[in-house]
Amino acid sequence: MKIKNIELKNNLILAPMADYTDIAFRRICKSMGAALTVTEMVSAKALMYKSEKTYELLETFRGEHPVSVQIFGSDPLVMALACKNAHLKKFDIIDINMGCPAPKVVKNGEGSALMENIDLARNIIKACVNATDKPITVKFRLGFDEDNINAILFAQMCEEVGASAITVHGRTREQYYSGKVNYEAIKAVKEAVNIPVIGNGDITDKKSYERMLATGVDAVMIGRGAVGNPWIFKELLGKKYKKDKLKTINKQIDYYLKYGKNERYIVLTMRKNIAQYLKGEQNASEHKQNFFKLETLQEVRQFLNSIFA
Ligand SMILES: Cc1cc2nc3c(=O)[nH]c(=O)nc-3n(C[C@H](O)[C@H](O)[C@H](O)COP(=O)(O)O)c2cc1C
Repeated sequence: MKIKNIELKNNLILAPMADYTDIAFRRICKSMGAALTVTEMVSAKALMYKSEKTYELLETFRGEHPVSVQIFGSDPLVMALACKNAHLKKFDIIDINMGCPAPKVVKNGEGSALMENIDLARNIIKACVNATDKPITVKFRLGFDEDNINAILFAQMCEEVGASAITVHGRTREQYYSGKVNYEAIKAVKEAVNIPVIGNGDITDKKSYERMLATGVDAVMIGRGAVGNPWIFKELLGKKYKKDKLKTINKQIDYYLKYGKNERYIVLTMRKNIAQYLKGEQNASEHKQNFFKLETLQEVRQFLNSIFA
């Protein structure tokens, strides 16, 4: 599959997930076979204000290419400036977030709020396409709510103004992350445009992957299904693998250290990940509770050894 001039070696993409898809986790997923990784969403406004915290989200590792950066905002000019920002130079693709359901984003007219304001969404995408030669992609949902499903119209608008690919999460904003993914709606979007369509939502194994592929999408994007299970990429690629949790989690921690994250960041981040890594283990909920009491990296390493060795 190609996104404008960028060729992907397979059809598996790691979804952007704020607070999860940081540099270390992306590196783990890339090593498992993800063809494309995407940063956590980055505020175009924060980029303009030269926020150091935002720059941290833009760290990539050698060998990450192709890699996409996701930006969000509601001002076409600010979004265009973000596309020209020197810190975005190293990225192969720029993705625009038009699907985030978080109230603090929606109330600013950003993320999925843009599905309710298609003229503004059009102006933002147009401004970004005109600001850079890089492929611009757009990630959105089926619509704002059940009464306002407009993914087909939205997808056609994206194509018309020059987006190189689109990702459709098969839910509305009002659904957040609950309810079932609407495969028929994704299929209808795929049939309505000629640019590549990436299907997203609830891919956790071979069966759900094949169900998504049956919609005709060109590639799939995997989010929560990769948290605690980065081996999913190997599984879907039909590669042999051993689910060595201890080795993989320790590698993730090593990457945090390599990329300069402090002990507090690592402990808190591992707290977010541990429940998923513990899935399928005996006494998982008890282990999780105990893990949350850990404060130092040494305690975390000891804990991991005692559970997974
Ligand atoms: C914790 C979390 C953070 C997320 N952050 C982002 C984000 O920064 N940008 C974005 O476009 N989507 C974000 N999403 C949505 C995912 O990219 C994806 O569309 C959604 O989780 C459905 O896919 P999944 O079922 O494979 O997880 C986030 C989802 C979760 C659960």
